Amino acid sequence: MKNATLKFISTGIFISLTTAMSHSALLFSEHDKQVDALLAQMTLDEKIGQMVQVDSSALKDKADVQKYFLGSVLSGGSSDPATGNTAQDWLSLVTGFQNQALQTRLKIPLIYGIDAVHGHNNIDGATIFPHHIGMGATHDPKLVERAERVTAEEVAGTGIRWAFAPCITVPQDAHWGRTYEGYSDNTALVSELGAAATIGFQGGKLSAEPTSVLACAKHFIGDGGTTNGIDQGNMVCDEATLRKLFLPPYRAAIKAGVGSIMVSYSSWNGVKMHGNKYLLTDVLKNELGFAGFLVSDWAAIDQLSPNYKNDIEQSINAGLDMIMIPNGAGKPNNYIGFIYDLKALVAEGKVSPSRIDDAVRRILRIKFQLGLFESTATDPQLTAAIGSPEHRAVARECVRESLVLLKNENHVLPLSKKIKRLAVVGVAADDLGIQCGGWTIDWQGGRGNVTHGGTTILAAIRQTVSPETKITFSPDASDLKNADAIIAVVGERPYAEMKGDRTELNLSAADMALIAKAKTSGAPVVTILFSGRPLVLNSALTDSDAFVAAWLPGTEGLGVPDVLFGDFKFTGKSARNWPRSSDKSAKPLFPFGFGLTN
Ligand code: BGC
Ligand code: BGC
Repeated sequence: MKNATLKFISTGIFISLTTAMSHSALLFSEHDKQVDALLAQMTLDEKIGQMVQVDSSALKDKADVQKYFLGSVLSGGSSDPATGNTAQDWLSLVTGFQNQALQTRLKIPLIYGIDAVHGHNNIDGATIFPHHIGMGATHDPKLVERAERVTAEEVAGTGIRWAFAPCITVPQDAHWGRTYEGYSDNTALVSELGAAATIGFQGGKLSAEPTSVLACAKHFIGDGGTTNGIDQGNMVCDEATLRKLFLPPYRAAIKAGVGSIMVSYSSWNGVKMHGNKYLLTDVLKNELGFAGFLVSDWAAIDQLSPNYKNDIEQSINAGLDMIMIPNGAGKPNNYIGFIYDLKALVAEGKVSPSRIDDAVRRILRIKFQLGLFESTATDPQLTAAIGSPEHRAVARECVRESLVLLKNENHVLPLSKKIKRLAVVGVAADDLGIQCGGWTIDWQGGRGNVTHGGTTILAAIRQTVSPETKITFSPDASDLKNADAIIAVVGERPYAEMKGDRTELNLSAADMALIAKAKTSGAPVVTILFSGRPLVLNSALTDSDAFVAAWLPGTEGLGVPDVLFGDFKFTGKSARNWPRSSDKSAKPLFPFGFGLTN
C-alpha cells in the first residue's frame, strides 16, 4: 500500500513537469513547485476531495467539508443561506465552510463558486446588470470589462472568489430558454466580449488581489447549437462547423487567461459532452493549451449512463477535473457515494493515479494563483460596497448602451421632460422581477420586488421628468385620458434554463392587445420590450410609434429614461438577427447590428 502510494506520487510529479513545460510553462510555472510539494503530501482521499464540489444546500453538516476534504462548495441558483439573503448572511455562510476547510490536515482552502451571471444576482441588494444579450447589444468590450470588474468586487465582498461566468454560448436558435445568457448569435462578437468579461472578473490576470475572481467560461461546447434550441439537447453538425461557430470564444477566453471552464449538458452528434474525451482533453486541454480546470455542470455526469460509477469513470477519464454534485446523504448520486466510487475506480485501475494528479494539480494551481493559501479574509469595505451608488452607476450606463431603437416614427423620441401628461401602461413597467429576468435572487427569477435598491421603469420615469408632469399608471391601459404620450412596457415573464424553451416566439396576445388599446387613444405610443430574446412583434410594431428593445436590463431602470428623454442618445445595436416570423427561413426583420440613432 505504502509503496503503491509512493510510486504514483513520483509518476505524478514526472507527468506534471512534462505537461507544465509543454503547454503552459509561462502562465503557471510560478506556482508549480508549491503545487508539487503539496501534492506529494496528499493522500488519495485528500486528492479526491479536491475534485468534489458540493452544493451548499446538500451539506446538511458543514463539517463534511473537513471530513471529506472537499475542495469546493457552490450555491446553485436557489441555494441561499438559511439565515437570510443579505451580503452578511452570504459572507457568514461562505466563511463557515471555509473555516472547515482550513481545519483539515493540509489546510487547503476551499474555492466557493456562484452564478454571478449578471451581477452578483443571488444576493439581496446587489447590483443587477443587464443579462448578456443586452451587454452584447452595447458592442462595447471596455464596458463589459468594467461591468464584470464591479461584479467581481461584489462577489469578493461575500467571501467568494469564483463566478460561473461568462457564458460564452453562441445561441443560434432563440427558442432556447438560455438565449439571453449569450451575448450574440455572432461568434466574433461573443469571442471579443467573452474575453473582455474574463479580464474583468479576474482583474487583468488571475491573482492574489482580493478582488480577482476566477472566471468560468461556459458551457463547453455547442450549448447554443442544439437542434431547435432545445435545452441540454443535441447538436448535429460536422467538426468544421463546431470549430467555426463555437470554438473561437474558448480560444479567446483562454488567451485572456480564463482559469476554469464548465462543460455543457448538451451532446454533439449524440455523444454527451461530459463524456467526450476528444473535445475535453485532446482539443481543449492539449490543442488549445487550457491549463486551468474543467468543472462539470450540475449533476450533469449523472446523465451519461444508468450507472453512477460508470458516469464517474467516463467523465474523469474524459478530462473533467471537478464534479458539481447537488445531492447529499440519502439522495442518489451524492458526494459521499462519488468519493467512494472514484476511490474504488482508482484501486481497480480504471482511473489512473496520474489523471487524478493532473486534476488536482490544475485545481491547486488556481488556488495558489488566487492567493487563497495566504489569505481567505474578506475586506469589510468590499461587503459594504455591494449595491453602492458607484456600482449602480456602471450598471445604469450598461442599460443605456444596451437599448436598441427599432422604430422611431416622426421622431417621437426623445420625449420632452416637460411633457404635460404621460400615461404609463403594462404591468412590467412597475415590476423589478420582470425587468431582471431569470437568475435573479432565485434560479428562475420571480415577479415583483425581488430585491432591494433597484428602480423600476415607472419609478425611473417619475424621477426623470419635470415635477409638473402628470403621470398615470394603469397596468391594463384603462387610464389613457388626455395623455400626450403613452409608454407601454411589455414582455416576457422571468424564466431560466429548462423552463424557458419556447415552441414559438410571438409577443403575447395580451401584450399586443395592450399596445393596440394604447394606440386607440390617438397619442403617440412608445413601446419598451423586456425579453430574453428577440420576439416576433406582429401588430405590436405597427401599433407603436417608437419601439425599444430593452432586453433584461436589471435593477438600474434609470438607464431607460436617460435615453427616452434625451439625456443620452441611442447607441445600442442588436447583437442578434431579429426574426420576422417563427419561420426560421424567413429573412430577418432587423439584421444583426441594427439599431436606429435619434
Ligand atoms: C447551469 C449552470 C450553472 C449551474 C450551477 C446549471 O444547471 O447549467 O449554468 O452554473 O447550474 O447553478
Ligand atoms: C439550482 C440551479 C441548477 C438547477 C439545475 C436548481 O435547483 O438552483 O443552480 O442549475 O437546479 O437543475
